Amino acid sequence: MSLIKLIDFRTFADSRGTLAVVEGSLDVPFEIRRVYYLYGLSGDLQRGFHAHHELEQVAICLSGSCSFLLDDGQRKERLRLDSPHQGLRIERMVWHEMYDFSADCVLMVLASEHYDESDYIRDYEQFLAEVKHAAGP
Ligand code: TYD
Repeated sequence: MSLIKLIDFRTFADSRGTLAVVEGSLDVPFEIRRVYYLYGLSGDLQRGFHAHHELEQVAICLSGSCSFLLDDGQRKERLRLDSPHQGLRIERMVWHEMYDFSADCVLMVLASEHYDESDYIRDYEQFLAEVKHAAGP
């Protein structure tokens, strides 16, 4: 199964514009405990470079576009996120990197837990070791 799991949010479009809806536990598979967003990004810089032990997230590019690399320790997949009514699931124990931000990129992330630095794996070799350990002998 692909690492890339996209969610299409419901939209209501009329002559006034478009309204998109994201409801916790309905449109995303968790209760939303935290929302954060990135903006003022530079196209030649990269962000992310970590995985989470438990955190579940959905990333939505509200404006502009950016690229994602997802890596579960066995496969690496890339995609360009460029639709304000599509969410990309970032599941637990998936290493992720974001890059090639457009100048107008606003990247919003919905998260299942409050911020907890101890949930982060920021070292790629440690990430690979934990994936290997979880898979067993
Ligand atoms: P960082 O993890 O470096 O961002 P990215 O994954 O996009 O590269 O986070 C930048 C700073 O923001 C860092 O000091 C931690 C802080 N932070 C919070 O305080 N709360 C949050 O919810 C998040 C996501 C980050």
